[in-house]
Amino acid sequence: MSQAQLHDKKRPDASERPARHQKPLVIGIAGFGTVGGGLCEAIRANREFIIQRTGRDIAIKTIVVRNPDKARRVPFPAEATIATSLEALYSDPEIDVVVELMGGINAPKELIIHALKAGKHVVTANKALLAEEGEPLFAEAAANNRILGYEASVCGAIPVVGTFKQALAGNRIKELVGILNGTSNYILSEMSSKGLPFGEALREAQTLGYAEADPTLDIEGIDAAHKLSLLIRLAFGLNYPFKKLPVHGIAEVEQMDIQFAREFGYRIKLLGQARNVDGRLEAGVFPTLVHHTLLIARVGGAYNAVRADGNVSGPIFLHGLGAGDLPTGSAVLSDIMAIARGFLPDNTGFSCRELPEANILPPEEAVSRYYLRCMVPDTPGVLRDLAGAMAEFDISVAQAIQKTDVPAKSLPIVFMTHQAKTSSMRAAIARMDEKGLLLSKPVYYRVL
Ligand code: NAP
Ligand code: HSE
Repeated sequence: MSQAQLHDKKRPDASERPARHQKPLVIGIAGFGTVGGGLCEAIRANREFIIQRTGRDIAIKTIVVRNPDKARRVPFPAEATIATSLEALYSDPEIDVVVELMGGINAPKELIIHALKAGKHVVTANKALLAEEGEPLFAEAAANNRILGYEASVCGAIPVVGTFKQALAGNRIKELVGILNGTSNYILSEMSSKGLPFGEALREAQTLGYAEADPTLDIEGIDAAHKLSLLIRLAFGLNYPFKKLPVHGIAEVEQMDIQFAREFGYRIKLLGQARNVDGRLEAGVFPTLVHHTLLIARVGGAYNAVRADGNVSGPIFLHGLGAGDLPTGSAVLSDIMAIARGFLPDNTGFSCRELPEANILPPEEAVSRYYLRCMVPDTPGVLRDLAGAMAEFDISVAQAIQKTDVPAKSLPIVFMTHQAKTSSMRAAIARMDEKGLLLSKPVYYRVL
């Protein structure tokens, strides 16, 4: 007997399946781009199964877009009315859930507030809005006892919001580290495995629907920082204001650094990290060297991953597609189905009205191993002088590569250091500059 037959045999026949005993859950969607289209495809593909799980159908009553005449990859669902005013969603008494999939800050914020005040549940994939302006929205949802679902806003299909709110709820999280942006990971993977130039890899990520409408949010690390600030709230129960997070994107990562990192046995990944250091929270988004033997180094393309260390669970590792139409649609659908099943609101995962502020470890006090590349003239003693500048600030060198086989005016010298403070790295680089050792701004990245 095949696996499919086995599966069919276990499935009850139609007369035994749960009846459609409740009225359909009526949703209205703002935005029918990558994610809006993916959500409607997911509902269409799995409609019967959704009814089996929830006992209810999902009816898509209204979809609001800017331009209804635009050519679309996914056709509008036949059942939906297409509108251009967001009021069509929050002022319609038949709509139970408003699904915000537009992106941006002001228009979605206004829509969500109106929808909650009108007694509707809200589902959104908008991490920028929740990271930058989330507090009044969570407060409005609590005041109206409504669900504000945002599983799709962090790491696409990976059920990371639910994992921290429910599955790991009994843990104090000591540390989390993640690949939180599919576009950056796709670009770094393509640059590393195929030697693709940065611009070409970015264009591919845009065509595949991974990038934000403004892709600087992806490549400057801002999107990853939005997600990190949401993860910090969920995992640590702390408010680390998004604007205070140190953020460094991948726009300046060069092919040369990807190759040097490989020579040392590492991959360069854009990581979001947060950890408890003696009661203070150290967090940020940085391009980071990850040893090739670690699972997170093997996360390629648009995949994302989150590694978390709970004091009861021990380490866990979540992995899956972090961007794109269907993966993100899957996460939006899970929030809609939670509403269809009558779940109670548990929006922040904590019972307090406002989360306490994080006691932030100043970024210059953070300690890490470092990769440092300096471009120098090919003169005797330069390696000694660079190492001397580091020794002055207690930075000890673990490994070095000096490329002298290429005749050029400017040669790279690359160091891997032992643990050093960020402030010491900055001071050592300033000293190298004062001594006239450097031909251009050096590149330095953390090592996980
Ligand atoms: P998108 O492809 O650019 O689609 C945006 C949609 O919103 C379009 O249909 C657009 O209408 C509509 N829209 C924008 N502003 C509007 C307004 N003021 N009034 C009415 N409609 C408006 O964006 P997306 O990639 O689907 O992303 C949507 C949201 O999901 C964003 O918050 C994004 O950060 C988040 N997200 C995206 C992904 C992903 O993989 N793409 C993954 C997770 C989360 P027109 O079609 O008429 O232009
Ligand atoms: N632009 C985002 C990314 C979409 O590339 O990860 C998913 O949040």
